[in-house]
Amino acid sequence: MKIKRPVVIFILGVSGVGKSTIGNLLSKEFSFPFFDGDDYHSKKNKDKMANGQSLNDEDRYEWLIHLNKLAIKQLEQKSCIIACSGLKEKYRNLLSKGIQTQVKWILLSGNYDLILERLKKRKGHFMPTSLLKSQFETLEEPVEALKIDISNSPEKIIELIKEEYTNKSEFGLIGLGVMGKSLCRNLAANNFTLSFYNRHKKGVEENVALNFKKEFSELKNTLAFDDLRAFVNALQRPRKIMLMVNAGKPVDEVLDSLIPLLSKNDVIIDGGNSHYIDTNRRIEMLQKHQIYFIGAGVSGGEEGALNGPSIMPSGNKRFYKLVQPFLEIIAAKDKNGNPCCVYMGNGGSGHFVKMVHNGIEYAEMQLLAEVYFLLKQMGNNPNEIATILESWSSSTNSYLLNITIEILRKKEEDGWLIDSILDVSENKGTGYWATVAMAELGVPSTMIPTALFARYISSFKKERIEMSKAYGVKTNNLIIDNEDLLKAYQLARIVNHHQGFKLLHQASLSHNWNLNLSEIARIWTNGCIIRSTLMEQLSTILKKNNNILLNEKIVVLVKKLKPSLNKIVAQSILEEIPIPCLSEAINYLNAFSVAKCSANLIQAQRDYFGAHSYKRIDDPSGKNYHTHWKNKNYD
Ligand code: 6PG
Repeated sequence: MKIKRPVVIFILGVSGVGKSTIGNLLSKEFSFPFFDGDDYHSKKNKDKMANGQSLNDEDRYEWLIHLNKLAIKQLEQKSCIIACSGLKEKYRNLLSKGIQTQVKWILLSGNYDLILERLKKRKGHFMPTSLLKSQFETLEEPVEALKIDISNSPEKIIELIKEEYTNKSEFGLIGLGVMGKSLCRNLAANNFTLSFYNRHKKGVEENVALNFKKEFSELKNTLAFDDLRAFVNALQRPRKIMLMVNAGKPVDEVLDSLIPLLSKNDVIIDGGNSHYIDTNRRIEMLQKHQIYFIGAGVSGGEEGALNGPSIMPSGNKRFYKLVQPFLEIIAAKDKNGNPCCVYMGNGGSGHFVKMVHNGIEYAEMQLLAEVYFLLKQMGNNPNEIATILESWSSSTNSYLLNITIEILRKKEEDGWLIDSILDVSENKGTGYWATVAMAELGVPSTMIPTALFARYISSFKKERIEMSKAYGVKTNNLIIDNEDLLKAYQLARIVNHHQGFKLLHQASLSHNWNLNLSEIARIWTNGCIIRSTLMEQLSTILKKNNNILLNEKIVVLVKKLKPSLNKIVAQSILEEIPIPCLSEAINYLNAFSVAKCSANLIQAQRDYFGAHSYKRIDDPSGKNYHTHWKNKNYD
């Protein structure tokens, strides 16, 4: 067996299916000790079965726990094989508790009549043939198992198992771009057996997989392919394949080529930044082939993918369990050592969550860009700005703040690199999707579109140059207090995070996803681009309150920070310096803090020109009113 880490092979199936025979033969083949689960039943259980009574969940509980403990103990030293009927999913959950990454399941399967014949021939076993029917009724077929038909001879069965575990890999990855390569190295470093594939494109992408394998020592035992069929055939069943290809059409193209090569119960994970609606569609399409699709947001860039990203998976929960051990092991760990990977919900919810992550990321980046711009207007050079930002990191630490400090310090021969970078920012679409999604859901998470539109404005470089000539924005009289700027930045970040989680909350209600906001914040505390000390605090706050801004401690903090944000925004506007996200933060906060706003006039206007009606504050029934507004005096 190729796997470097110890594993336990559970041989499952109804009584009489041949688990002990296969277990013993396999034990000889692999030189792993074999344990027959039947030997571990209590006398009470054996007597009960001998009396023709089937065991219930309660009877089986201690037995399963015992076998789990046995497996854990064995795994401390080496691999082992355990035969156990493991008929229900919850039994298998108990068997594999705490050792999920080290469990292999084999289901021996056959038809009732064949097994009955065999049972009749079996001598000296406590299980009467009459219980076979109830065993069949209890069996919940394990989708996670390698299913082997017992009409094959025992020798053939061993050959099939050997072939599967000796020559095939546990996990496959398609797409060796920057992220795909890093994830492969991460998987291999975690001792998973791995196959990877990259397409062959003459003159453009040739021998990518093979060359990649040669490049890194941790890939020594991996299998590299540029032939898709060979790649698929080199994977243990049910197959687990992660796609790391560009979002959009490339995902559909890969799926089209993969589907004819896959089998029932195989699982595909899409780890790209796919649109959640595409993920919904792909889940449905693949389900028709009994292939399962897990949409997984993966954040952390190249470094995260290599050392531990934050992962946001969604889709069919039962099939997610097949890939869960792989994703949890390669994910970053939070400060308590738990994986920054948790099941989000059904459908494309994982990609929706990643999309909102990126939306928050856009606004976080924009806020730092505005802070940088203000400090620059005050006459600070990049190094001085970096020093100021560094002094903030003790109270307001984040990955994005830290990389900004590093960026600002980067020097070129003639000065700082940042000064030579063109002021036109691009995007790959997640901020745009988030903006569309919030417009559809009616959720005003305004800082995300503001950050997106700031990027759009930047892209009109030529027009900006012309406008600057026409309007000659003044920029030189800005005097702001760094402490105020820090406080303004802190408050704007709170509003940004509040808006992001509000979007998730509303989407969860609309789509019935049942998203756990606190868990989402927790898996965003490490591995991802928006990890920060604020995120750590939010994971606690969100346990009690979906509305961050109504948390008691946050209310006190916001009141303390607000005068500084007011001041910074007012000063910047007077000095005609664009600060779209900082000002949006205060506008949003003010708009939400007004119990009685100006929308009464909007309603009246709508009713005036379109007879859209309005409701009255003195009529709690919610009845619609319409008025003939035309006043003759003004005609
Ligand atoms: C991450 C990043 C990552 C990528 C974005 C960039 O979480 O690791 O968000 O997914 O850097 O797609 O998005 P834009 O190109 O739209 O800025």
